[in-house]
Formats: sequence, structure tokens, C-alpha cells
Amino acid sequence: MAQTHDPKIIVALDYADADSAFKLVSQLDPNLCRLKVGKELFTAAGPQFVEKLTRSDFGVFLDLKFHDIPNTVAKACSAASNLGVWMLNVHASGGMEMMQAAKQAVDSNSNNPLLIAVTVLTSMNQQTLNQIGIHTELATHVLNLATLTQQAGLDGVVCSAMEAKSLRTTLGNDFCLVTPGIRPTNASKDDQSRIVTPKDALELGSSYLVIGRPITQAANPLAALEAIHAECTA
Ligand code: C5P
Repeated sequence: MAQTHDPKIIVALDYADADSAFKLVSQLDPNLCRLKVGKELFTAAGPQFVEKLTRSDFGVFLDLKFHDIPNTVAKACSAASNLGVWMLNVHASGGMEMMQAAKQAVDSNSNNPLLIAVTVLTSMNQQTLNQIGIHTELATHVLNLATLTQQAGLDGVVCSAMEAKSLRTTLGNDFCLVTPGIRPTNASKDDQSRIVTPKDALELGSSYLVIGRPITQAANPLAALEAIHAECTA
């Protein structure tokens, strides 16, 4: 990975196949963004596709949200690290032992990517938490899992920008907050309900912004990326 700077925008490559993803990537500038590969694209295009991206100048966040027994997650994290990714993630609800095993696996890999955790999926609400037997208030559960993530030695969490301020206050500055649900001023909300502008998200304490459709669906993706970058630095 030849990236020497630290772009804050992570473009979500939510595509069904490698060709569509490459078509977009060829229009983007690695000085302005990193790339996120999630379950759909990884399952369709495979590890060779991820390696191809990591050999380019783009940093890659492999968003596979591993959640399994500690040994299995550790092995999966080693395999992901071998692909040369910049960041990968697990589910914090896999517990302390699972996260520590994952962290040990990435730290013993020469590539040593950032390891972050998902706390509570934003698709869940209090009712769906209760249905799986968790009766703690949702915001408290997020904070508990983020604290556990930090205690396990991971580098950060995925969270809503709306949670970023309180997490930043509690967990300190040396903890990475990766926030989706970002919409530039005047952009369509799509199916996101709780949205924050890029500049506001950074001011609330976000470290990195995951942005998909405002860039991937734009008539000119590079212009959209440049405009968001400018909005962040204004
Ligand atoms: O297109 P959009 O900007 O809404 O894409 C956001 C990306 O962030 C998608 O890849 C989505 O799966 C992901 N994401 C999210 N909300 C979360 C976690 C991940 O939107 N809580």
C-alpha cells in the first residue's frame, strides 16, 4: 500500500461484482479516499479482488464483521491481514476472548492492519435487542461494548456519528471511530434515517467517514468525492 497520507473518507464499494467496483475505483483518487469491501462484494469477487485493490494505492477496509469462536476469528483475521488490508473488523458481542485473539492475530502479522469492532448494528433498535435477550438500554449497550473493545486492545469501533461525541468523551482521543450514515449537505438520505454531514461528523469526533451512494451513484464520482473532501476541510 503506497498511501502515505491519511484520507478520512472511506468509499463503500457496495457492488455485486468486481467489474462494477473497478469501474468506480478507476475514477477515484487514493489521495482523497480509502475503499470499503463488504460481504456482498467479497463473497462475489473473492480475496484475489481484495489483493488487487490493496496492491493499488488505495487503503482497503475489509468489512466482514467476523463473529465466531476465538480460534476461528483469529485465523480469519490472519488470512485477512495477509491480503494487505488497512483495516478489518469483528463483532464486539463475540466477547473479550474473541477480540483479544483477533488482535493478537493481526498484531503478529507483518501487515498489522487496524482492527475495529461493530458494537450494535444500526439496523437494531431497543425492541430487536430485547428480542435477543438484551434488556440493557441501547445507548448503554453500545457504550459497554465499545468499552469492552477498548479493554481488549482493539483500535476502535464502527458507530453512528451521533454516538461519536459521547464515545470520544468516554474512550479518549486515541480510539478510532468509524462512522457511516454520512450525507453531504443537500444529498439524498437514501435509506439512512439518522444522517450527519461530513464536517459535523468530524467535529463530533469521527476518525473516518464511510460514504457510499453520495459518491458511487454520482454522475461524476470524483467530483462528488472532491466536493465532500472540500466540505470536510472548509
Ligand atoms: O450508501 P451509504 O453511504 O448509505 O453506505 C453506507 C455504507 O456503510 C454501506 O456499506 C453500509 O452497509 C454501511 N453501514 C451503514 N450503517 C452501519 C454500518 C455500516 O450504513 N451501521
